[in-house]
Amino acid sequence: MTAQSNSIERINTYLTKQANLGTLRFITCGSKGDGKSTLIGRILYDAKMIFEDQVTTLKDDSKKAGTQDEDINFALLVDGLTAEREQGITIDTAYRYFSTDRRKFIVADTPGHEQYTRNMMTGASTADLAVILIDARQGILTQTRRHSIICSKLGIKNIALAINKMDLVDYSKETYLKIESDYRKFAEELNFDSITPIPISALKGDNVVERSKNTDWFHGPTLIGYLESVDITKSLANKPLRLPVQWANHQQLDFKGFSGTIESGKVKIGQAIRILPSGETASIKSIILYKDQLSQAEAGQAITVTLDRDIDISRGDVITAADSPCEVSDQFEIELAWMDQEPGYIGRSYLMKLGTTLVNAQITDIKHKININTFENLSASKLELNDLSIVTIKTDRMIPYDAYSECTGMGGLIFINRMNNQTVAAGMIEFALRRASNVHKHKLDIDKETRRKLNGHTSKVLWFTGLSGSGKSTIANALEQALHEKGIRTYVLDGDNVRHGLNKDLGFTDADRVENIRRISEVAKLMVDAGIVVLTAFISPFRAERQMARELFEQNEFIEVFVDTPLEIAESRDPKGLYKKARKGDLPNFTGIDSPYEAPKAPDITLHTAQADIDTLVAKLIHRLEF
Ligand code: ADX
Repeated sequence: MTAQSNSIERINTYLTKQANLGTLRFITCGSKGDGKSTLIGRILYDAKMIFEDQVTTLKDDSKKAGTQDEDINFALLVDGLTAEREQGITIDTAYRYFSTDRRKFIVADTPGHEQYTRNMMTGASTADLAVILIDARQGILTQTRRHSIICSKLGIKNIALAINKMDLVDYSKETYLKIESDYRKFAEELNFDSITPIPISALKGDNVVERSKNTDWFHGPTLIGYLESVDITKSLANKPLRLPVQWANHQQLDFKGFSGTIESGKVKIGQAIRILPSGETASIKSIILYKDQLSQAEAGQAITVTLDRDIDISRGDVITAADSPCEVSDQFEIELAWMDQEPGYIGRSYLMKLGTTLVNAQITDIKHKININTFENLSASKLELNDLSIVTIKTDRMIPYDAYSECTGMGGLIFINRMNNQTVAAGMIEFALRRASNVHKHKLDIDKETRRKLNGHTSKVLWFTGLSGSGKSTIANALEQALHEKGIRTYVLDGDNVRHGLNKDLGFTDADRVENIRRISEVAKLMVDAGIVVLTAFISPFRAERQMARELFEQNEFIEVFVDTPLEIAESRDPKGLYKKARKGDLPNFTGIDSPYEAPKAPDITLHTAQADIDTLVAKLIHRLEF
């Protein structure tokens, strides 16, 4: 045999062996400075997963950095990638791959800093287990608790409690036992199947890959030994079939296939299935994986199926077992982790992605936040960065789902800011609310068009936005007079007036302003339906709510009018003396002073009140409007 064929054979044997190894996905979590990077570096190094040239550079760099004497500074290896990672926008988790003779590993290295909780969640949502790092000198910290709670919520069942830096506490058994018992006490309510504490020193290598001579009192597994042997066999394939449709493939004339990844269960040829939300039934005609025809497939496989009947199915629908379908709802109670700097508000509209479904969703109520140290429930009117809370939500259409605890892929969701496409929250469905589920829309014989005909003009909303004192109400009032004279039916919804009635329970916090505008846009919609030309005069300071209002209407029904008056001018007018009060500090949250105003980026009409008199502005509006 030649040397070349010999080595090819070796490579083939290696690859076959690798292909047959099971894969364990895990995450490491810990606070800054707990030694996560060092630990991963140590694992990679001891498992010989670092190329030699990297080791040489590391040794040099470590000497230069001068922090670890003669030891290699493993953190440098991993942290080298951190700067790169920090430029990432949404998902900053870095994955590393390595293997031993017994298993392949995928580790998500999640940054430990407070604001990186979202990255941790990204990594944890696909992990089989979590390695929670604790600095033996510090014990359990807030971050340890936070990460553990999130792991538990995301369905992680096995925890390796890596009590690190044992070398710095003289390998003290007492310290180790104290931390173990503290953690077990804390984790009682977290539903983990197993917690395996291991005393380690990532830096010195104790009990990571090699068993340590410094901890002869410890008889548990080494970290790698544990990772190699922990049982993570999932029973997803034994659950009812859930195949969310990612793509309805009608590319060829005589072919109608539905592609997606099976979230749970098995699918077989001939099997009876039910499509949700429509509830239609059919049976499976064929199962295709790339170019192969299969007789069956199971959870985790990305396949295309064809059916025995021609049914209308689109992206976001779910193919389920006919005899155990999932449920469908548009109102849910969920657990939500807020991951954005900008707070979340009741009533604000977000894009929500659940599996392959994309819908509009609103938080309808914040039941409570959870204090992660005490598990106490705290009341809240908005959601802030890293808040974990129980909220109710509603979606703009019925969606198929399972509780997250039943099927993570069918009950795990994210909220996306529709203005900048950033992921702002991750949630888990607990259950659907039956509330109002029997309320159906009543079809009326007289509709918007009929009413418009009777009125002799179309109906629409002119949405005036601008600072207090910009002139919104004055212009709306003058425009209404002009329209009235033309025989047009109008109504002015004005901030100061509506706040005396419908919205008298609302103040001027951001959360209240969001709710103010949400209600007004619903009222305006009813009035437009009634055939009326509605003029709304509200500061409406946030883009998100003006956008939400716009989306309630049909095209051309919503006209955003930006009353563009600079703050100095509005303030100099100060018709109600409110600016003066605000400047003195007697009126908190005043728009333009200590509460923001987000000017429209592309208003339909802009009015500059500083340069023109009221008649000119009204004439401009009338000229632009068609009735
Ligand atoms: S909005 O921000 O929620 O759209 P809205 O237009 O209803 O506000 O109410 C604004 C009016 O309330 C102002 O014109 C002013 O007369 C009065 N007001 C009282 N307090 C405040 C405040 N803190 N900020 C802004 N306006 C206030």
